[in-house]
Amino acid sequence: MKAVQISDYGDRENLELREIEVPTPRVGEALVQLDYAGINFIDVYMRQGDYRNSSTYGTPLPFTLGMEGAGTIVDANGVQGISVGDHVAYCLSRGSYAEYAAVPAWKLVEIPTSMDPAVATVLMLQGCTAHYLSHSLFPIRAEQWCLVHAGAGGVGQLLIQLAKARGAKVITTVGSAGKAEIVKELGADHVVLYLEDDFYQVVQELTGGQGVHVVYDAVGADTIDRSIRSLRTRGTCVNYGGSSGLVENVRPLDLADAGSTFFTRPHLAHYMVTQAEIKRRAEDLFRWVAEGALKVRIDSIFPLAEATAAHERIEQRKTMGKLLLRATDS
Ligand SMILES: NC(=O)c1ccc[n+]([C@@H]2O[C@H](COP(=O)([O-])OP(=O)(O)OC[C@H]3O[C@@H](n4cnc5c(N)ncnc54)[C@H](OP(=O)(O)O)[C@@H]3O)[C@@H](O)[C@H]2O)c1
Repeated sequence: MKAVQISDYGDRENLELREIEVPTPRVGEALVQLDYAGINFIDVYMRQGDYRNSSTYGTPLPFTLGMEGAGTIVDANGVQGISVGDHVAYCLSRGSYAEYAAVPAWKLVEIPTSMDPAVATVLMLQGCTAHYLSHSLFPIRAEQWCLVHAGAGGVGQLLIQLAKARGAKVITTVGSAGKAEIVKELGADHVVLYLEDDFYQVVQELTGGQGVHVVYDAVGADTIDRSIRSLRTRGTCVNYGGSSGLVENVRPLDLADAGSTFFTRPHLAHYMVTQAEIKRRAEDLFRWVAEGALKVRIDSIFPLAEATAAHERIEQRKTMGKLLLRATDS
């Protein structure tokens, strides 16, 4: 089968389309013939080697990129409760930039018959992230203020919609005027073009100097200090990524000075620990899309052979929504 692999950590030129053996599912795994692989920013970190020592998302070389996909089970491998022919989606199992993937069966969710597998793919890693951030980590309540960075990004667009659905007041930052239009359509209350305006100042003005209850910050290095200062007393800073660079240091005294604030650096994996938890999040998201309450925007779909161009697009901040790889026409 075809698969996009790396043998060395580094830049996107290291991505190589190779012919490799179809994986043999181990005990508890099923073999999935993929329609789509989702591209996520975590793939960039993994390619660069940022997660080489991670106990949650280790990346032993060589490996096939990709942590998310959707397709059809072609070998159920004796696992109870699943069958050949089931249409499924999943995330947090490495190796989806390929035509086939062996996936732990407990991570698979069945896709509703009416749902496009491309949409189901989006809802797994980015959708479940937006879900746990807004419903579990900091279950945002009506009338609370939140600040969502990179609001036009894959996670950002979904997070804005989920926060609005819970009645929150959403301030969001974006990198361009085109992205501002998208987040306004999604219901964001205030949009900051953060390469032009200081989001900290805007937050102060909008909240009467109080600050926000929660900041969802996956931009990281460029924004984290001002994100913490944008909180109100006892507010929560959720640093869930580092698109501009991973955050290396946060001083406890800075958290205290900002108003005895809370800081957390979560992994999605710790909010998807059981099959029931995965199903609960995915089924909520599937239902909201079916009801028209949640919109999914696909930025573009590349063939496997163009994974390098796809990485270039996400790294150069050009995406406005989800990037996918189509596994069937590489
Ligand atoms: N911890 C978790 O559980 C978890 C789970 C999923 C994703 N994440 C993280 O969430 C973030 C968003 O992921 P995503 O896949 O949805 O990506 P994305 O938001 O679609 O793309 C990244 C966005 O970050 C912004 N950005 C700011 N500075 C940047 C820089 N120097 N280089 C590149 N982009 C920059 C850009 O938006 P603007 O142009 O608007 O600035 C860009 O479009 C990533 O950091 C990812 O690692 C974390």
